[in-house]
Formats: sequence, structure tokens, C-alpha cells
Amino acid sequence: MNVVDLGFLSMNKTFADKLISWQLKHGRHGLPWQGTNNPYAIWVAEVMLQQTQVATVIPYYQRFMQVFPNIRSLAKAPIEKVLALWSGLGYYARGRNLHQAACQIMVEHRGKFPRNMVDLQRLPGIGRSTAAAVSAFAFGECCTILDGNVKRILARYFGIDGCPGERAVEARLWQIAESLLPENSNRKTMVVYTQALMDLGALVCVPSRPHCQQCPLQNDCVAHGNNQTAILPTAKLKKLLPVKQAVHLIIINQNRILLERRPASGIWGGLWCFPEMPVEQDGMNYCQRNLNLRVTRFSELPRLNHTFTHFKLSIYPQVMQLAAHEFTCKENNQVWKTIDEAMKLAIPTPVKKLLSLTETILQSSNHV
Ligand code: ADE
Repeated sequence: MNVVDLGFLSMNKTFADKLISWQLKHGRHGLPWQGTNNPYAIWVAEVMLQQTQVATVIPYYQRFMQVFPNIRSLAKAPIEKVLALWSGLGYYARGRNLHQAACQIMVEHRGKFPRNMVDLQRLPGIGRSTAAAVSAFAFGECCTILDGNVKRILARYFGIDGCPGERAVEARLWQIAESLLPENSNRKTMVVYTQALMDLGALVCVPSRPHCQQCPLQNDCVAHGNNQTAILPTAKLKKLLPVKQAVHLIIINQNRILLERRPASGIWGGLWCFPEMPVEQDGMNYCQRNLNLRVTRFSELPRLNHTFTHFKLSIYPQVMQLAAHEFTCKENNQVWKTIDEAMKLAIPTPVKKLLSLTETILQSSNHV
């Protein structure tokens, strides 16, 4: 074939063709959730990968799949065990939804993973894009994903103004994404095409300073052609997040620490945390009045900042020591645990960090 023919061929390649060729050569292969058509294994990965990087997810995914290899094992497990494996991954509602969805599949679908987009989207934690990813990867269905990465690719490629989070813009992006699906697709093309969209967004068409020279779409990309990659997609107006403050009371009794389980709904719902107190209050009084514990001050730890979706939390940790060995837990949502035991519970990242710091100060004071 001569050069002219090759040029002609490449001009006729569709968006999907270009992505598919690119993915096979430059995309990610050999990720732990690839090379399977098991919808359960794919679903768990897709949920973990929501708002979370591949490198972070891999060890969590591997542990999770070892402990819960199928829907039945996940549905049978106590939520506590699910959250313990989710501990540190953040966005814990995802773990709770995953467990609830597994229970729902056992009851409503007799343990068989639903195959169609409508039934999939009825499950908690599965939106349209996640349902499409599972359908494409597991069943080879011809349906499109549209996560944040894909929105960015399409907004740039078509030069679409307006924030992709706005309803009208998002609806337009869904329309476009559907129109770009490979023609006469089969299972293989859908798997590669869907992965291509994900990989291009993660590796090439990245939010800032995209690697346009490596992009298979650069010749037709409006943003690239007009030098607009820095301003497309239109950025969301950044809302300043409110900052809340709280004291976390790390109460030590010999080599054990008091943890309380949070109510099921709300921030860190169902997770084990330190007792929390408003910053205006005095720790010793608070422990006496609210926890019925007499304590003395042991030390303070540096402030810790944590960002949630809707606010920031400044945590002021105070380490307290029980004055008398009152070892009882009056509430069944309280436990006294050694640091090693606590680390294995369902705890959020700041609690994990504070436990490590506490261990260090206890060791340096020869406390344990
Ligand atoms: N992000 C979301 N889903 C993904 C997948 N299957 N592989 C890599 N990154 C992803």
C-alpha cells in the first residue's frame, strides 16, 4: 500500500476507530479488573474507581476480591466487615451502597447480576455511566460511559462551552457520546473502546497541560486547534468550602483507646472514630459529663485537615489519659481497642493517621 492510500485510510477513520487503535497500542493493559467478563468483578472495580485513582484502588480491590469473591459472599457479610476493607479509600457511601446492592441482587435477581441498563441503574450507587461501564465490559453492550474524564475529552474535541456539570451541557454530551459509539460493535470492540475513553482521559487528555502530541484525536480536536485546552472544559465556579472545626479526643486506658461508632447516616456513617467535641469545650469536663470518664490531659497532636465534598474539617486532636481504670463500655457503640486492633476496624483516614501518631508518642513516652 502506498503513502496516499494510508493517508486516505486514516482520514476515514472514525472517532471510535482512532481510539481503538490507540488503546491497543498505548492504553492500559493487565489491570486486575481487566481480562474478565465477570460482572461482579467489574462492578466492584468501577465503584472503587469512582473519584479514585487506579494506583490507589489496586491494593484495595485485590484485598476486597479475596475476601468477597462473589455477590453472595458480599451480601452475606456484615456491613462492618465491608467498611473495614474500605477503610482509607474514602467516600464510604460507595462501600455501603455496594453491600446494599449485593443484598438487593440476591433478593430481587436471585443472585444473578442484572444485565440491562434499567435494572442496573436501580441498584444503589450505580449511575448511568457506571451502568454503561459494567454493561460494556461484562456484556459487550453497545452503550457509552460519560464520566468526568470523558466529558473533558468531548468538551475539548468538539469545543463545547459551558460547564459539563450543568444539566443542558451534560445532556448534550450524553447525546454526542452516544453518537460516537463504534458501528457494528461486538464485545471486543466495546471493551477496547470503553477502556480507550478511560485511558485517554487518564493518560493523555489530562486536566492541565494535556499531552496533545500523543493524542490520536489531535488533528480534529477543536480545543487543540484553537489553543483552548487550558479553558475547555469550562471550569466550575469554585465554591469556597466552609471550614468546620472539632476536637477529637484520643482517650487512653493503659494500651487501649476509646472508639465510638458513628450513626449509620452522615459523615463517616458506620465507621469507628474518636469521640468528637466542639472546640469551645474543655476536654476534661466533656469526658466527665458526656462519657462519664475521668481523664487527665496527656498531650496534644498537630491539627489535621480533612476535605469532604461539602466542607473542610480542621481536627484538633487531644490525647487524654483515663484517671482511673474504668474499662467498661456503657454504650454498645463504644469499644476500647489496642492500636493494632483499631487499625483493622472500619476507620476513616484521619483516624488512621491519628492512631499512628498516638502510637509514636506512646512509644516515646514508654507508655506501651
Ligand atoms: N476508571 C474508571 N473505570 C476504570 C477502568 N475500568 N480502568 C481504568 N480506570 C478506570
